[in-house]
Amino acid sequence: MERIDVALIGAGRMGQVHGPNAANHPGLRLKYVVDPRPDAAAAMASRWGAQVAELDSALADPGIGGVLICSSTDQHLGHALAAVRAGKAVFCEKPIDLDLDKVRKAEPEFAGARFLLGFNRRFDPHFQALKRRLEAGEAGNLESLQLVNHDPAAPPPGFIPTSGGLFKDFTIHDLDLARWLLGEEPSEVFSSASCLVDPEIGRLGDVDTARTLLKTPTGKLCVISNTRRSGYGYDQRIEAYGSKGMLTAANVHANTVVTLNEQGVDAAPIHPNFAERYRAAYAGQLDHFAQVLHGRATAQAGYADGVAALVLAEACQESVRTGAPVRL
Ligand SMILES: NC(=O)c1ccc[n+]([C@@H]2O[C@H](COP(=O)([O-])OP(=O)(O)OC[C@H]3O[C@@H](n4cnc5c(N)ncnc54)[C@H](O)[C@@H]3O)[C@@H](O)[C@H]2O)c1
Repeated sequence: MERIDVALIGAGRMGQVHGPNAANHPGLRLKYVVDPRPDAAAAMASRWGAQVAELDSALADPGIGGVLICSSTDQHLGHALAAVRAGKAVFCEKPIDLDLDKVRKAEPEFAGARFLLGFNRRFDPHFQALKRRLEAGEAGNLESLQLVNHDPAAPPPGFIPTSGGLFKDFTIHDLDLARWLLGEEPSEVFSSASCLVDPEIGRLGDVDTARTLLKTPTGKLCVISNTRRSGYGYDQRIEAYGSKGMLTAANVHANTVVTLNEQGVDAAPIHPNFAERYRAAYAGQLDHFAQVLHGRATAQAGYADGVAALVLAEACQESVRTGAPVRL
């Protein structure tokens, strides 16, 4: 496969996931790293044979086919617009932006663009297998879903003010997963939330524990369970109940060895964080982006999916504020 040059924007936690995946992909070459933190940009560039660059010069290079946007959330939309205007294919981490009005206003610019949004759960092999079995009718007609998304530990308080809050930063993954599995747009949203993990999160105006109930026009129900602290690892599960049975995607353990003895049953811990739990999903997502860039696929999670998930996240916030369900 011919290799197409890409530029990485943002060499932080997610840049360190997607940058190496691009550098190692047979259809991509990581050419530039853009980050205002010179040390972070230089370390990533030298490790993966790329060059440090400014955004404008990277986008002005006609050899650059695509960009990977892994900058902080408040930068995504500006970077995506600049890249699309320069005719590049875009992979953009979630969410598109925190401001739904801005996101909607910019939407026409993305018509026809090659734009993949970072809803990585759609690329998880376990969740993909569950969806295939659901669509094959193994559990009959889907009636309800339970999604569990529990972080192992609360983020540092400094992360909270720019995160957009639990629903736009964290639940947004589950809202997209729900849309993907339900095959229908939720028409009603009810959320209840508390601050139980870290009082500092509450002082900063956010919540850390939530339950959300989605209902679709045909009556399908989805419950989403979120917390910023499990204490036992990165808890990621799906249960899908249908007219003929149930499908479940369980947690993934560090290894499959289980001891059974007089003391009981002892298994390895579940994966401790997103980078390990979704390692295969991130690689699959980057491979899909390469297929999009090479013109062999259309993006499986596009701009419209980002808008729809943001609409639901705002509805969750509104429901917590008013204590009432929100009809869409
Ligand atoms: N899909 C997932 O599983 C997942 C997980 C974590 C974070 N995220 C998302 O990824 C994004 C990045 O999160 P992170 O945890 O990597 O954050 P981070 O703070 O570790 O990294 C962000 C990087 O962007 C850089 N940056 C800031 N402004 C920039 C600019 N103008 N140009 C270029 N680079 C710039 C920062 O210097 C930093 O290195 C966030 O939007 C977050 O919501 C997604």
